[in-house]
Amino acid sequence: MSKIGIFGAGWVGLVTGACFAELGHTVVIRDVATERIEPLQQGDLPFYEPELADVVERNRHRLTFTLDPAEAAGDAEFLYVCVGTPSTYSGDANLSYVWSVLDDLPELDGRPVLVMKSTVPVGTGEKVRSALDARGLEHIGYASNPEFLSEGTAIRDFMHPDRIVIGAFEPADGDRVEELHESLEAPIVRSDVGSAEMIKLAANAFLMTRISFINEIANVCELVGADVQEVARGVGLDHRLGPHFLRAGIGYGGSCFPKDASALKQLASNSGYHFQLLSAVIEVNELQKRRVVAKLVKHLGKLRGKRVALLGLAFKPNTDDMREAPSIVLASRLLAEGAEVRGWDPVAEPGELLKGVEISGTVAEAVKDADAAVIVTEWDELRALASPEIRNSMRTPLIVDGRNVLDPNAVRKAGFAYEGIGRASSPLVDFPRPQSPSTGSSE
Ligand code: UGA
Repeated sequence: MSKIGIFGAGWVGLVTGACFAELGHTVVIRDVATERIEPLQQGDLPFYEPELADVVERNRHRLTFTLDPAEAAGDAEFLYVCVGTPSTYSGDANLSYVWSVLDDLPELDGRPVLVMKSTVPVGTGEKVRSALDARGLEHIGYASNPEFLSEGTAIRDFMHPDRIVIGAFEPADGDRVEELHESLEAPIVRSDVGSAEMIKLAANAFLMTRISFINEIANVCELVGADVQEVARGVGLDHRLGPHFLRAGIGYGGSCFPKDASALKQLASNSGYHFQLLSAVIEVNELQKRRVVAKLVKHLGKLRGKRVALLGLAFKPNTDDMREAPSIVLASRLLAEGAEVRGWDPVAEPGELLKGVEISGTVAEAVKDADAAVIVTEWDELRALASPEIRNSMRTPLIVDGRNVLDPNAVRKAGFAYEGIGRASSPLVDFPRPQSPSTGSSE
């Protein structure tokens, strides 16, 4: 078993460190932020990720947290870089945290391998290698070992990966990173460093392409009278295409896709190539987030003074992550139209990101006297949305299902007007307004 120093106690660093500890390795996770490390030392996780708290708790004896780089790096055989690589104003990846890790490295004996887990532009490994050499650290190995973890299923993704990608300058360094994963059953992809870096970017770009593709098919389905759910099922059963990432909706968000798309687009253009397809994927996604507004206008007319409940605020279910969540764009569009916006999410706490939105503690509270309930994120709790209680409490019984999670016929039978994404909609006119005192005055 090895000693592993992890640099970065964010989501990737914590999941990676906890899972390596679960595999039996000794792990020290280092971060520069006291407000992150101190709670971790007390056993508090800074975000919500299913199963992570249990894995951390189970492995307390071989998983520690520190502010001191020497404690993490000293006698470690592997130095995992798990820091953020956010977008800069130019859309490129900001590598300043990666360079800080290099600056913070103490004197090291032996041949530890610096392993890049963070998502970085192709060519970063070459630059880091040169920087290490220039500092007299030729004896430190280097490998790229990108992460393919999804929020909400990260522990399972680490323990049961589809593949493990390892790119190294020296084959012996790659062999050692491979050994680190030997108890995991997964195909190992060995490549040069640049290709490993590109595998990560290309995989994310392809997943986004599938989402924007099915969203455009959905938009055409609406115009020509087809149902995108049936289309996606029929398309996905072709073994050459597969069923994944064909869920039409109101667009992708999150801490990875938008920034990685931008970084790959800039990487291509900085290298003299205009990546047309990726540019279109990004644009389709931006427009998709706004389509709900037109759907609301179609049913409700002008949105000024209308009350809209946004249900699910995190960028996807089973996470509290609000980064680049479609709910942020949608809320600000609705507020700009003069709508009164309420929001509900079982775990996310949007704070300033949803300034002007009234946050409700329950779904019932969010939809009370509302003119529309919009499913933005497909939390399980929302599958029972079309109930008589909800219908009677709404001012206008309209559900806009931004994730196609409800059965349109059942929703209509329950007395709601229904709008999905890429499926037939139904008008409001069939639905008499309930006559309860709470709703009668607002007609
Ligand atoms: C994504 C990738 O799936 C991971 O493989 C990758 O490791 C990770 O980025 C990363 O680079 O770190 P994640 O952002 O956690 O993971 O979430 P996804 O499940 O991929 O969902 C991303 C967005 O796409 C969400 O907003 C989701 O609602 C949307 N989506 C996903 C769709 O709109 N349709 C789909 O069919 C699938």
